[in-house]
Amino acid sequence: MDKEHIFFENYARNWDRDRKADDKVLSAFMELAAVRPGSVILDAGCGTGVFLPYLSEAAGRGGCVEGFDYSQQMLDVAEEKFSHLANVTFTPGDVLKYHFPEKHYDVVCCLNFYPHVAAHSREVIRRLYDALVPGGMLLIMHDMPRKAVNAIHGGEPVLPPVDILEEKLISAGFSVVIAMDTERFYFIKVVKAADESDFVYDDDEPRSGVAAHPLHHHHHTETKRVLNRLSRITGHVEAIKRMIEDGRDCSDVLVQLAAVHSAVAGVSRVILKDHIDHCIVDAIEEHDTEAVENLKKAINTFVK
Ligand SMILES: C[S@@+](CC[C@H](N)C(=O)[O-])C[C@H]1O[C@@H](n2cnc3c(N)ncnc32)[C@H](O)[C@@H]1O
Repeated sequence: MDKEHIFFENYARNWDRDRKADDKVLSAFMELAAVRPGSVILDAGCGTGVFLPYLSEAAGRGGCVEGFDYSQQMLDVAEEKFSHLANVTFTPGDVLKYHFPEKHYDVVCCLNFYPHVAAHSREVIRRLYDALVPGGMLLIMHDMPRKAVNAIHGGEPVLPPVDILEEKLISAGFSVVIAMDTERFYFIKVVKAADESDFVYDDDEPRSGVAAHPLHHHHHTETKRVLNRLSRITGHVEAIKRMIEDGRDCSDVLVQLAAVHSAVAGVSRVILKDHIDHCIVDAIEEHDTEAVENLKKAINTFVK
């Protein structure tokens, strides 16, 4: 057992006393996640189970939730609190070693968990990707701001800005649906391609940035990613329209709108980066001052 594992074993009985979950934020996470009834859910690093009742309710009688943690003490506390929930089970195991069934879970949740495996992030992301069914979703959530999370971890940047984690998730094969890094919480929702052949791995894309066409018709390596994101944003906006038609609570609608806002900012960042990486590098080489001026204007509009 390493030091951190021992820490959780010893802390389990006092965890709920010292670390009060923010119920409002957890409810907002459930809104953003939009888990379907009947889902098979893994709560990775479930700890004392703060999120289990939310997941249990969302999964409903036709679904099930597996609380998973390497600390037996944490899991014992979770089981004492929530063994009455008929669709919840408890599994001891290390995310880095456990043989998860392949293509099994519809949803994998990591609430306040990612920093504990950040040193092995690629391995963990790959394992959770493999455990998800095609089209399944992975949620990475913190019910406190990123700065506070990193402060708890001695100032180490264990929880990176969303765009950095997004890149890792995308290169593992996920598409980003929502990425929010706010004053109150951190929330990323990504989905595994419904059909794995839909996903074009980064390595399949030309990386050279050499213009295949004359100037102003540069090759954009991120086109597929941008189109995927825009399709999801369109779907999300349609869902918000339906919420308004159904007379849903304004605060729920605002949470969804904030998610769209952050998704639009995310897609803008991808386009801007692509533009800088490819078009502008070429434009500078070819002394195309107009293209450089246009970039300045685009950046000014983007940062307004
Ligand atoms: C900060 S706690 C969060 C617990 C709970 N999700 C919550 O939000 O209250 C992190 C949890 O992850 C568990 N954990 C850390 N590394 C793990 C690993 N490699 N495999 C499984 N569980 C792990 C710890 O035992 C602990 O319960």
